[in-house]
Amino acid sequence: MPSAVPQPVAAKLTRAAIFLTVTLKPDPDHDVTVRSLCGDLAALVRAVGFRDLEGRLSCVMGIGSDAWDRLFITPRPKELHPFREIHGVHHAVATPGDLLFHIRAVPMDLCFELASQIVTRLGDAIASADEVHGFKYFDERDLLGFVDGTENPVDQAALDATVIGDEDPVFAGGSYVIVQKYLHDLAKWNEIPVEVQEKIVGRTKLSDIELDDTVKPSYAHNALTTIVENGEELDIVRDNMPFGHVSQGEFGTYFIGYAKSPRRIELMLENMFVGRPPGNYDRLLDVSRAVTGILFFVPSATFLEDAPNTAPASPVEPAAARAPEAAAPASSPPPSDGSLGIGSLKGEAGHE
Ligand code: HEM
Repeated sequence: MPSAVPQPVAAKLTRAAIFLTVTLKPDPDHDVTVRSLCGDLAALVRAVGFRDLEGRLSCVMGIGSDAWDRLFITPRPKELHPFREIHGVHHAVATPGDLLFHIRAVPMDLCFELASQIVTRLGDAIASADEVHGFKYFDERDLLGFVDGTENPVDQAALDATVIGDEDPVFAGGSYVIVQKYLHDLAKWNEIPVEVQEKIVGRTKLSDIELDDTVKPSYAHNALTTIVENGEELDIVRDNMPFGHVSQGEFGTYFIGYAKSPRRIELMLENMFVGRPPGNYDRLLDVSRAVTGILFFVPSATFLEDAPNTAPASPVEPAAARAPEAAAPASSPPPSDGSLGIGSLKGEAGHE
């Protein structure tokens, strides 16, 4: 059996991104529409991306816990569950979201065009939950002025951190992703002396050098988000992006973290919001409020392309042979209806 091809979770960082979160409207016909898009997503990315090959367009599609049960009757990914809210010193909220599209490219026009094509395909099946257009800010800085992303694993280390292997063989090639939209109180942050800001982040501001352990506080952001188990550091891949609306005083960081298990991201969040030990929390949260929080499973590109075949109402399976609870309502068209009919393009998922 050839191994499953992952979605481009570890794609190189780009200058622009759209984070599109939608909810699914209740109607089995809408499930058909979504499954049909799953099968055609790679071809859509190729079609839009081919118009500007230097643009490095990529798209990762995530599926939330409730949506998974609606869309697929295959076994569930082992660690898929709704985002777990945290009530610590600060509050990590859980918010609605059935599907995530993380669209990245060098120019924004590619992201925008792909997002438009996806939304057109999904039509009435979805309602918008959140849409954030992110941009790169000078030398990879967030709007707090610190370089963000330095310690991200790259190449093979990024794949090792994010891609599921033997621990869940049915979903090998998949990943988990947690997103949180943070809004900053920049006026409050800018009142904090730079030396104190550096202790909060754990790196120098201008030169982005990690603080020595002798001066780095245990509450530094990069201390609380370092998780070591059995002598091994458990990495995640982040692609945070600044966003905002200046005239509305909105300045934010869109956090997105991929990992082969959500547990390691959840541990980081517990350390940040509750503290390690409890009370020794992340001071970034005194000036940054999480206004969304969702966990998604990211199936492999191979799974997505075959998704219509894994639907409850597979057209190749005679209705009489199906278990009653698996049968689609009589009014549902076969899952592959509505497809672009571009099956011959399959097998070349848009990954990097
Ligand atoms: C307001 C939101 C956030 C901001 C502005 C932010 C900013 C930063 C900055 C400036 C760094 C240091 C440079 C780097 O290595 O990337 C960093 C590191 C890191 N952050 Fe965040 N971050 C945020 C939220 C989060 C969240 C929610 C998590 C995980 C749940 C997280 C996980 C990490 C990790 C794992 C590192 C690298 C630690 C290391 O190994 O040195 N961050 N972040």
